[in-house]
Amino acid sequence: LRDFPLFEQLNDEHLAEISKLCSICNYSKGEYIFLEGDEGEALYLVISGVVQIYQNNHSRDIILSIFREGDYFGEMALLQNEREHSASARTIEKSTLCILKKRHFIPLVKSKPEILIGILETTLERLRGANKLITDLTIHDARTRIARMLLRLAEQHGVPFSGGILIDLKLTHQHLADMTGTARETVTKLLLEFQNEQLIRIDRKKISIRNIDSLRNLLEPT
Ligand code: CMP
Repeated sequence: LRDFPLFEQLNDEHLAEISKLCSICNYSKGEYIFLEGDEGEALYLVISGVVQIYQNNHSRDIILSIFREGDYFGEMALLQNEREHSASARTIEKSTLCILKKRHFIPLVKSKPEILIGILETTLERLRGANKLITDLTIHDARTRIARMLLRLAEQHGVPFSGGILIDLKLTHQHLADMTGTARETVTKLLLEFQNEQLIRIDRKKISIRNIDSLRNLLEPT
């Protein structure tokens, strides 16, 4: 729990107390954690693996966010009394989650305002992300949307190396399509174009951005 930014203000004693209240749950790849509209029963903290948060509309998934170790989700249904989960959660990779039941979570946030402030800060950051996504999806063409999503993923999940920045997620073309409101075939075509233009490289299902400045310039030419 020490590695979770949410709990960074707490001392060892408090962390030990909370860890006694948590249960650890393993999920296989592609397994549902909860569905949009389900009652909120717990807070979910990602210990390892990758989880997608998405909504489904007319049998199309729209991916709102991707979470990995150190992230948490499911707090909205717990803090907004009488409201259900606002989106569904499913693993993209085999994952291990720490689950803190509502009956333990609510007294915890009531007794520790610093945790509540941390949650508020994360929520505001997520709202900024959601606002950006709305703008991207509304005004840009598919090529720009996909390029901007690659830059965003590099910011959130990027690992710098000598050849550029590796997006450390195994994403399928369908995942990228669901994140950008495009068709899978469009993603395949545009990723090939970006590769031919030496902007990205794809190796073992992971994308790396070879030249982040060129990709940025492509979007906002100076
Ligand atoms: P909840 O509504 O309980 O269940 C779905 C969870 O996904 C939600 O709580 C948040 O933790 C998270 N979530 C919902 N929408 C977004 C978003 N736009 N960006 C990041 N996380 C989100």
